[in-house]
Amino acid sequence: MASHSIHILGIESSCDDTSVSIVTDGKVLSNFTISQWIHQKYGGVVPEAASRLHVESIVELTAAALTQAGIEKKQLSAVAVTRGPGLIGSLLVGISFAKSLSLSLQIPIIEVNHLQAHVMSLFIDQAPRFPMIGMTVSGGHTQLLLIRDYADFEILGQTLDDAAGEAFDKTGKLLGLPYPAGPEMDKWSKSGSVRFPFPIAQVADYGFSFSGLKTAVLYFLKDQLKQDPQFIENNLADLCASVQDNICKTLLIKLKKAAIQYEVRSVGVAGGVSANSQLRKELQELCTLHEWQLLVPKLSYCVDNGAMIAWTGYHKFLKGQFVDDRFPPLARYPII
Ligand code: KG4
Ligand code: ZN
Repeated sequence: MASHSIHILGIESSCDDTSVSIVTDGKVLSNFTISQWIHQKYGGVVPEAASRLHVESIVELTAAALTQAGIEKKQLSAVAVTRGPGLIGSLLVGISFAKSLSLSLQIPIIEVNHLQAHVMSLFIDQAPRFPMIGMTVSGGHTQLLLIRDYADFEILGQTLDDAAGEAFDKTGKLLGLPYPAGPEMDKWSKSGSVRFPFPIAQVADYGFSFSGLKTAVLYFLKDQLKQDPQFIENNLADLCASVQDNICKTLLIKLKKAAIQYEVRSVGVAGGVSANSQLRKELQELCTLHEWQLLVPKLSYCVDNGAMIAWTGYHKFLKGQFVDDRFPPLARYPII
C-alpha cells in the first residue's frame, strides 16, 4: 500500500445497525456490522435501547475494521460519519465517537447524509452509465431519483406516507412476523402464490403511497379471521407473496415509467429493500428487456452499512469537503 494512500474510516449508527468500515483509495477493505436483534421483541426499534447498544459495539467494530484492513489508527486520513437522517440518540453515538477520534488523531471529520450514501453505494465497485434512474428503498425512505452524474441527483418523487420497508414491516407485523419483517416476508414468499389481490395505490407522477396497503391487509385479515381463526397460519406463504408482489409492482411501475421518460442508460436500486429477491429478479428482467444496465449493491451494502459512509466520505475527502467538529446530528436531512 502506497504511503500516500487515503484511508477513510466510516461510521454508521443512524438506526439499529452499528457498522464501521475502512475504504482505502476507493476500495472497501473492511465492513463490519452488528444488527440489533433486541428490537424484535418489541416489534419495532426502541430508540433508547438502540443508542445503548451502539455504545456497546462501536469500539469493538472499529478495532475489527482496522485489523481486517491492516491499518493502524494513526494511518487514518479522515473519519466519516452519518449525520442524519435517523434517530437522534443513535446518531449522537456515532458522531461523538467520530469527533473524539478526529480530535485525538488530529484528522479531519466528514459528515455524510445517510440517503446520499445509499445512492453512492450503487457505485461501490461498479461503474455506472449516466443518466440513470435511482431508487432508494429503505425502512425510512422511498425516493425515485434522476442521477445525471456522481453528485448530481434530482428527486423525482417520494413516498407520501410509509416507506417501502415500513410497508413490509407493518404488514408483516399484522401477519405475526418478527421485526424487521422484510427479510422474513421474502423467505415466506418463495413458497407462496400471489392469490390475494391487494390494491395498488394510484398516486400522481412519481409519488408513492403504502399506508393504504397496510389498511387493506388489516381489514382483509379481520374479515377472514372471523370465518377461520387459523387463516393466517394456513395461508402465510400466499399472504406474504401477495403483499410482496404488491410492493414490488408499486415500485417497478414508477421506476419503469421514469426510466423510459428520461431515456436512461442504467437503473440502480439501493437501501434495505433492494435486498428483496423478487424485486431483484423483476428488475433484472425489466433491465434486460430495455437494455438498461442494472446496478444493485452487494447484499452487505444494501442494508445500513459503514462501507457506504466511508465510500461517500472518500469522495468528499477528494473534494476537501470537511466540517468543523461542532456540527449536531440531524433527525431529518433531505438529500438535496
Ligand atoms: O436501509 P435499511 O437497512 O435501513 C434504513 O435506513 O431504513 O433498510 C431496512 C429495511 C427494513 O424495513 C427491512 O424490512 C427491509 O429494509 N428489508 C427488506 C429485505 N431486507 C431488508 N425488505 C424486503 N425484502 C428483503 N429481503
Ligand atoms: Zn438506510
